[in-house]
Amino acid sequence: MEVVACTSVLGPGWEHAGVVTTTHARRDDLVPTGAVGRRGRPIWRRPWIFPLMVLTIGFVVYTVPPYLTLDPSRARLAPLPDNPVFFPLLVTHIFLGSIVLLTGCVQLWPWLRRTHRGAHRWSGRIYVAALLPAAVAVIIIAPLTRFGPNQQVANTTLGVLWLIFTILGYRAGRQRRFADHREWMIRSVALSFSIVANRVWTMICLVAFAPTALSGGPVDEAELAQAVGVASWVSWVVNLLIAEGWLVHTRRRRSRPVRSHRSRLSADAGS
Ligand code: HEM
Repeated sequence: MEVVACTSVLGPGWEHAGVVTTTHARRDDLVPTGAVGRRGRPIWRRPWIFPLMVLTIGFVVYTVPPYLTLDPSRARLAPLPDNPVFFPLLVTHIFLGSIVLLTGCVQLWPWLRRTHRGAHRWSGRIYVAALLPAAVAVIIIAPLTRFGPNQQVANTTLGVLWLIFTILGYRAGRQRRFADHREWMIRSVALSFSIVANRVWTMICLVAFAPTALSGGPVDEAELAQAVGVASWVSWVVNLLIAEGWLVHTRRRRSRPVRSHRSRLSADAGS
C-alpha cells in the first residue's frame, strides 16, 4: 500500500487526519498539520510576517488615538457628515477594525497556526466577532461620507464583500471545509488590510489628481473627491487581486502530489 501525505491538496500547514491510499484525499477530511506535529519553514523564510505586524501596530497607534476620547471635534475627518449616527458608528468601526487588524496578523502567522491551534482558533473567533459588527457599521456610514458617489460606492461595496467573505469563511471552518475556509479568510484579510493600503493609495492619488491639497494651495473639491474616490477603489481591488493571484498560485502548487518525508519512509519500510 502506498501511503501519500496530502500536503499537495492544501499545501504546507494541512494534512490528512489518517493514512490514505490514493494520491489525493478529499480535502474536507483534512486537518491542520499542527495536529500531527509537522515542522514548518524557519522564520527567516517567512520574512513578511514581522514587518506586517510592525506596520499594523504602527497604523493602529497612529490612527486610533484621536478617537479614544470619543470627542467628535478631535476626529481627523472634518467636517463630519451632519448625521447623529455617523460618529458613534465611525468610532465603533475604528475600535473593532483595530482588533480585526491585530488578530488578522495573528491569523496569518504560519508558525502560530501550526503549533498553537487553540490560539489560532481563539484569535479567529475574535477576528470574526469584531469584524461582523464593524462591517455592519461601515455599510451604514459609507453612503454618508462627504466625497461623493465614487467614494461612497467603493466603501459600501468593500463593506458588503468584507461581511460576505468573512461569513463564508467562518461557515466553511465550522463545516470543516478547511480548504474553502482558508480561501475565504485570505480574501477577508486582504480586504481588512485594504485600509492600510488606502493610506498609501490616497497619497498617490492626491499627487496624481489633486496636488494642491498636498502643497497647501487652493483645493478644488471635485479634484479632491476624484482622488479620494479612486484611492477608495484601488486600495481594496488591488489587495483582492493580489489575494486571488496568491490563491491561484498556491492551488496549482498544491494540486501537484508531493510525497512527504514521513510517507516516503513509510513507503520504503513497506517495500
Ligand atoms: C475594510 C472595510 C472598511 C471600510 C469599508 C471602511 C470605511 C470607512 C469609511 C467610510 C470611513 C469614513 C471616511 C470618510 O468619512 O471620508 C472610514 C474612516 C476610518 N476608518 Fe475605516 N473602513 C474599513 C476598515 C477599517 C479598519 C480595519 C480600520 C482599522 C483601524 C479602519 C479605520 C478607520 C479610521 C481610523 C477612519 C477615520 C479616518 C482617519 O482618522 O484617518 N477602517 N472607514
